[in-house]
Amino acid sequence: MKILLIGAGNMGLTYIEGMATSPLITKNKLRIYDIDPKKRETLSKDSRFDVFDNLEDCLPSADLVFIAVKPYHSDELFEQIKPMLNKNQIFVSLMAGVTIESIQQKLGAEKVVRAMPNLPAKVGKGVTSYTESEAVSKVELILIRSLLDTTGTSIHVDTENFIDASTGISGSGPAYVFYFMQSMLEAAKKMGFSDFDSKVLVSNTFEGAIELFNQNDISPKSWIDKVASKGGTTRAAIDSMEDNNVTQLIQDAAYAAFDRAVEMGKED
Ligand SMILES: NC(=O)c1ccc[n+]([C@@H]2O[C@H](COP(=O)([O-])OP(=O)(O)OC[C@H]3O[C@@H](n4cnc5c(N)ncnc54)[C@H](OP(=O)(O)O)[C@@H]3O)[C@@H](O)[C@H]2O)c1
Repeated sequence: MKILLIGAGNMGLTYIEGMATSPLITKNKLRIYDIDPKKRETLSKDSRFDVFDNLEDCLPSADLVFIAVKPYHSDELFEQIKPMLNKNQIFVSLMAGVTIESIQQKLGAEKVVRAMPNLPAKVGKGVTSYTESEAVSKVELILIRSLLDTTGTSIHVDTENFIDASTGISGSGPAYVFYFMQSMLEAAKKMGFSDFDSKVLVSNTFEGAIELFNQNDISPKSWIDKVASKGGTTRAAIDSMEDNNVTQLIQDAAYAAFDRAVEMGKED
């Protein structure tokens, strides 16, 4: 199976590097096309990849095409590649807010998988949600899932509404965690800790809490109840968050991303 990545930016490269570790990718090198000649030159030094200077040489014979350009570059790209395609090719789009129907219409393609990645894929801890058009077979989907899983884990969802919803949770979610981290870093610095110590305190607190959550079958709420005893320090912090309606604010933020993903699909 010949796999081509179009758009070797942050996400595209993360996925192609993940796929390069897959035992399924043995005989053929992974193919890459990016519009930026400098990027192509750098990538062509990597022996795992075949980097192409034009799409005519790599796209018509590709079986599986990962598309990882920014959504606002998609129309231009689709117009360019449409004449080079055939009906058996499968397209996996990592683009936020670009619907399967619009990809099918603009490319004249039948087999389309839409996936929503997230940033921790860069360190093999990503979570990708994905769904597919009817024409994609079960066997094709198993292969695609195994490729997506090379960057972490994946969940299959039945409708694109869940792709937009997962944009609000996992796609944009790392930024919510960074927001919380940044706020805690700033609090630590205000309390007088050095930059270094603030980072140690905050990053280990996050890592430790995640580890506890992963290693035990206890909900975050139960963990809070365990540690926030009446009249204690943690209870004072949680009460302050509750007085300020932080739960609602975080949920509003997740819905803002979800709504924006839906809106982008409509604009498209
Ligand atoms: N980053 C995330 O956390 C994240 C999360 C969820 C979803 N996504 C989705 O992932 C996709 C890629 O995002 P990204 O952050 O990886 O973007 P990026 O770093 O800008 O990468 C896109 C790459 O595609 C290239 N490109 C643009 N037009 C092209 C064309 N016609 N043919 C070939 N290459 C072309 C760009 O070159 P130039 O730089 O020269 O334009 C760039 O190298 C987006 O659609 C985004 O919605 C990203």
